[in-house]
Amino acid sequence: MLVTGKETRERVDLLCTGTVGFLGSHVLLEWLHSHPDGRVLCLARGAPGAAPRERVLAALATAAADCGTVFDVGAFARRVTVLPADLRVLRLRDDPGWQAWVRATDGFELLHGAANLSFREEDRGEVWSSNVDGTRQLLAELADTSGLHAVNYISTAYVSGTREGLITEEDTRCPEAFTNVYEESKWYAEGLVREHAASHAVGVRIFRPSIIIGHSRTLRTSSRTGLYKVVELLWRAAGHIPEGTPSVRLPAKRQASINLIPVDVVVDEMLAILDQGAATTGRVYHLTNERPLSLADLVYGVPPLIGLALEAEFSGAPRPRDNLVETVLLRKMRHYLPYLCYERTYDRTNVRACGADHGHAGDWLDLVRMREFVQAFLDELEAEARVVSGARSPDGTRVSDGTRVSDGTRVSDGTRAATAALATAPSGALVGSSTGAESVL
Ligand SMILES: NC(=O)c1ccc[n+]([C@@H]2O[C@H](COP(=O)([O-])OP(=O)(O)OC[C@H]3O[C@@H](n4cnc5c(N)ncnc54)[C@H](OP(=O)(O)O)[C@@H]3O)[C@@H](O)[C@H]2O)c1
Repeated sequence: MLVTGKETRERVDLLCTGTVGFLGSHVLLEWLHSHPDGRVLCLARGAPGAAPRERVLAALATAAADCGTVFDVGAFARRVTVLPADLRVLRLRDDPGWQAWVRATDGFELLHGAANLSFREEDRGEVWSSNVDGTRQLLAELADTSGLHAVNYISTAYVSGTREGLITEEDTRCPEAFTNVYEESKWYAEGLVREHAASHAVGVRIFRPSIIIGHSRTLRTSSRTGLYKVVELLWRAAGHIPEGTPSVRLPAKRQASINLIPVDVVVDEMLAILDQGAATTGRVYHLTNERPLSLADLVYGVPPLIGLALEAEFSGAPRPRDNLVETVLLRKMRHYLPYLCYERTYDRTNVRACGADHGHAGDWLDLVRMREFVQAFLDELEAEARVVSGARSPDGTRVSDGTRVSDGTRVSDGTRAATAALATAPSGALVGSSTGAESVL
């Protein structure tokens, strides 16, 4: 059981990390709407050619576009303060901007969502330094700050590692193994947050979303991680797979499910819990889908949209691969394949107990809806590919700043480069060595 927080005061401001990112920008946007007097301090990094404040405001505009609305900078900007900060080398205490913000607040909560989401073992050092050392540093900087009511940590449902069966919110044991360094780092960071809360007598909430997808109404997303990364990978490959190639077999477990949840549902639940103040501190919350899609639904229902034939192989011991395309695709998907083999259910007792589960009344993410989500993303990829080859978006508008088409969708440099490379790659390059095929697929 975690430490319960101090009484919540009337107006509680927010100190946020991760607001340049997908989930963080959506949470912040909704919080600004629903807390008209609330003030936010964002800790964010700059990027080449973009100051941290610009990046946060641009992320809010993208989140608003995902929601089908327009971000009114004038209405919010004065309530949003941004301090340049890389968590790995964070120094807050002596920062005059920080001191001024803390002096002016009556009390605040931390919402810590910044993280490196790489699953790659090669990135272990980077992932660990942002997710674990960065969290440690952030908490150390806040240690003696008065006015901090609660620490809210955005973790992941996948701190469950390789564990299967019923995963309860209160089970904080270390799993036997983790699927990747990302899961491991998030589990360790949860521990740091809990320890900090206990030793400093502040409230703590740990939010554990599953795989976040776009907005439930508009289907739009600015995310390129998780499901979207896999769909993009398959989409890139699809155009280069010679006709007659046998279907690609994915090793999987028959009862596995893939837990996907729209970003607005995650945000609604998170804020519904946060807004109850001290009553909801001291707990872990699974922000997960109560009716996840089965693995078979996804494997047989989605790839036809991409023009690929996949099959789930439930045999346990995968048969030898004699198909070059399959060998290469499975290698490319290696970080995601383990998730096809977990049979588990995420319990949501704590979310239900505080009445935050209102978004789960119906079966809203059935296969039909899921296909609409994927189709919307594929349409976006196709539009980006057209922009790369013709420098015009489908409605004929020219790409303005090289990063966005006119409707606000993002065109990443990585996608631009990869799409351009694919556009010129001969499909015959797939025949031959796996190195040749890998560079094309
Ligand atoms: N997306 C999902 O499906 C999902 C599912 C479960 C849990 N989560 C959790 O939700 C949170 C947000 O995920 P997301 O999908 O929104 O990821 P995201 O779009 O990659 O955003 C993460 C943000 O964290 C920032 N960040 C990383 N390292 C940092 C550092 N050292 N200092 C300062 N900022 C740093 C990044 O800033 P830069 O832009 O400067 O790199 C980025 O804007 C994460 O904690 C993640 O673990 C996400």
